[in-house]
Amino acid sequence: MIPEVDTLSQALATIRPAVRQGKPYAVGAPPEAPIKLNQNESPWDLPEPLKRELLEEFLALPFNRYPAEHPERLRQALADFLDWTPEGIIVGNGSNELAFTVGLAVIDEGTSVVLPRPMFSLYEMIVRLHGGRVHPVPPRADLHFDVAGLLAAIRQQQPALVILTSPNNPTGRAMTLADIAAVVEVAPGLVLIDEAYVEFADGTGARPLLDRYPHVLLLRTFSKAFGLAGLRLGYLVGHPDVVRELYKARIPFMVDRLAETVALTLLRNLELVQQRIAEIKAGVQWLYRELSALPDVDPIPSQANFVIFRTPQEPGALLARLAKEGILIRNMSGYPELQGFVRVNAGRAEENRAFMAALKKALAGDETL
Ligand SMILES: Cc1ncc(COP(=O)(O)O)c(C=O)c1O
Repeated sequence: MIPEVDTLSQALATIRPAVRQGKPYAVGAPPEAPIKLNQNESPWDLPEPLKRELLEEFLALPFNRYPAEHPERLRQALADFLDWTPEGIIVGNGSNELAFTVGLAVIDEGTSVVLPRPMFSLYEMIVRLHGGRVHPVPPRADLHFDVAGLLAAIRQQQPALVILTSPNNPTGRAMTLADIAAVVEVAPGLVLIDEAYVEFADGTGARPLLDRYPHVLLLRTFSKAFGLAGLRLGYLVGHPDVVRELYKARIPFMVDRLAETVALTLLRNLELVQQRIAEIKAGVQWLYRELSALPDVDPIPSQANFVIFRTPQEPGALLARLAKEGILIRNMSGYPELQGFVRVNAGRAEENRAFMAALKKALAGDETL
């Protein structure tokens, strides 16, 4: 029985105002659908033979024992993958959780954080939850981050933390390495660069900057190009002395034995990952071309595994029509800069085709949908 007592308001009053004033992070769609193109996931699970091999490995794992404090084998494999030192890597239960770790370690009441907009909404939420002050920098008209505006805001605010996302979710735009370096040069504090989609982009991402700047932190994930969103694995890379401090704000035993085992297997099967990345990139190009050919639809060129586009139809109504066909995409109108935009991620070729066919029907006002 849930108690209906006066002390309830007292209990609620103990929750910090920054938390009570916030909103929970919510996707707002069912977790499963026949064609799911709304969460930037990989459309492919691991091949079944690989899964069976993993099941054999799971049989040998003791579920009753805590894992190592740090998943050392995975840290070493990532260090080899990135040509970096394992002491400069934290592996976590999804990159989102590691973003919270950075927030906990860096942001106090009133701490300044500069971030360009529109940006993955979780970051603003993390800053506000910790009592920090967000200094947002509006985008250019083409939805690229405004680098000159960012540099000016950093010089003015002298923030403890700058957050960049490249390629960016929600726009799919990426920053050039030179632009990221320019931000890093003027930033007096840490620069957290979320590279959740870097594997889909042209170029190396910001990895070269780690060799030159101790205040750069890269945040990456196994959820997108590696197709392990369901397992929750991400990693943070930085100077070992900075990472050693961040470790103190980390949740203990963040990574379970199963997830570590799967990630190690994938890092041994990189050709499979590469082949899937190539297919996704081809899917993104196809979606962009098809969307560009439609009247009144304005897609934004993307360096990620998704495309956003402005639709002539009210986004909520469009999403509802597509959902009736079993197709989920995402409404971007919650971002003030993206009024009228929706986002679709590349799925399998046949899913992309089904989406385009349903979209064309919906935009033509076909009532049979
Ligand atoms: C910019 C960005 N960072 C991180 C994530 C998710 O990270 P994870 O699944 O590793 O927690 C997403 C997922 O949508 C994202 O768009």
